[in-house]
Amino acid sequence: MSRLRIAVFISGGGSNLQALIDGVNNNTLPIEIALIISSRSDAYGLIRGKENGIKSIALDKKALPSQVEVKTEMLRLLEEENIDLIVLAGYLQLIPKEIIAKYTNRIINIHPSLIPSFSGKGYYGERVHEAAYNRGVKLSGATVHFVNEEMDAGPIILQQAVDIDYTDTPKEIQEKVLCLEHKLLPMAVKLIAEGRLRVVNNRVEIKSEVQS
Ligand code: GRF
Repeated sequence: MSRLRIAVFISGGGSNLQALIDGVNNNTLPIEIALIISSRSDAYGLIRGKENGIKSIALDKKALPSQVEVKTEMLRLLEEENIDLIVLAGYLQLIPKEIIAKYTNRIINIHPSLIPSFSGKGYYGERVHEAAYNRGVKLSGATVHFVNEEMDAGPIILQQAVDIDYTDTPKEIQEKVLCLEHKLLPMAVKLIAEGRLRVVNNRVEIKSEVQS
């Protein structure tokens, strides 16, 4: 059977991308990372991609000034590489509506909180962890979800929680959550590669593993 071809969209360090690359390299993830798209040309994730022989492209505003051009080039690359699944791993731009419509239930995102807490407009990067710190939550976590037109509101695939200690700084909360993310994202991608997810009324059913 041919491997699921994925595109990973990034904007920064790409540690979640690295978790996926590691999964492929140690044969625990039955996928092919065929394409990396970055919204910034200085994203370290692009170097990770190139070092692993993956087509890695920056579609930043400097290179392509208008959003229409970004969308057109994005679509062209996705089609050229026959992408089955788009993984947003720290991608800080909105995905064009046309691409969301074309790839319904074939785009996933990792968010560094337990959605619906600290999610939606304005909750990205360190802001999420600062908000969790300020609210004094005792648990935070990570969520992988399908992407729809509403920010952070698509069907939830997987969530995992981590204890927050009173002494944890926002930076320490971020580190705890990132550690979870590196396990959760490959897990979600694997479930999709194995065809084990079904979306029913905005909820995700996870089918149990087929025993061989
Ligand atoms: C992660 O916390 C992810 O949840 C968020 O952005 C961060 C990206 O980190 N959307 P990295 O680039 O994968 O290291």
